[in-house]
Amino acid sequence: MRGRLDGCNDVVDSRQETDNIFRVKLGLDPTDRIIHARGHVHTPALESVRHIVNERVAGVPLAYLLGRADFDGNSFFVTRDVLIPRQDTEFLLRRGDWFIRDQIKPRRSMSMLDLGSGSGCVGISMALRHPRLEVVFIDISPAALEVARKNARLHGVEQRCQFLEGDWFEPLDRRDRFDLILCNPPYITRRNDPLLEKSVRDHEPRLALFLNEDPREFFFRLGRSAVSHLRTGGLFAVEVGYDTGWPAREALDKLKSLERVQGVHDFNGTERVIWGLRR
Ligand SMILES: C[S@@+](CC[C@H](N)C(=O)[O-])C[C@H]1O[C@@H](n2cnc3c(N)ncnc32)[C@H](O)[C@@H]1O
Repeated sequence: MRGRLDGCNDVVDSRQETDNIFRVKLGLDPTDRIIHARGHVHTPALESVRHIVNERVAGVPLAYLLGRADFDGNSFFVTRDVLIPRQDTEFLLRRGDWFIRDQIKPRRSMSMLDLGSGSGCVGISMALRHPRLEVVFIDISPAALEVARKNARLHGVEQRCQFLEGDWFEPLDRRDRFDLILCNPPYITRRNDPLLEKSVRDHEPRLALFLNEDPREFFFRLGRSAVSHLRTGGLFAVEVGYDTGWPAREALDKLKSLERVQGVHDFNGTERVIWGLRR
């Protein structure tokens, strides 16, 4: 089976993928596999592994086939209704984490909004790191919200989470205020559509990927609503792509009620997050 994965475009490590498939689907680690290779695995179980390998060869991301993805050291349930959590998003998480550690008295309970929550990986990871944090999740996709709810349950933080369906800030009451708002919005611009990996373009939800309007206008609108739902001193941080960092920074800079607007860079010097604090 490993041989079939070897020639695939987006398979980086066929051994690791094969190990993952056997571990998740059959509960077999590599040593067990050698023992069971002598004819002890039930045919239906092997059939399900074969099916996964066929789908993988056809380009379906492994996370969807296994129904799970790793993020911030934890495993998250995923379906094709949600973006597969990316390591890049850990920059957003880290910015939120620093904020809580630096800015807020540790004993106070805190509230956070995970805007465009998808699988819930951002808000749930923050809830796991901070036991007094309460998180509201908003997504326009009811199917994505169901995935986030299931993940909150799996990680034992559901009682501190609330799930709201709607268009960005629309489901909130105008008096709702948060200590921090973290958002990983769709940010692939039409210009970058051709540069996307085929497996992403063909299989991940378009709603989670594409920004169908001018980035500056989008980030300005998002930032303007964010400040009206932040407590004084609160953090608004948004993930950006390599060509949406500057429009996002320019847009957020225009907001008088946001100060210290700046970026978080990755190891290559690319801006991954733009953030500001509510005056
Ligand atoms: C880039 S994904 C991020 C998902 C998740 N937060 C993560 O980091 O993996 C963007 C999410 O925004 C949601 N979304 C798109 N348009 C939206 C809108 N108008 N209002 C609320 N959520 C929206 C999508 O359904 C998707 O789940």
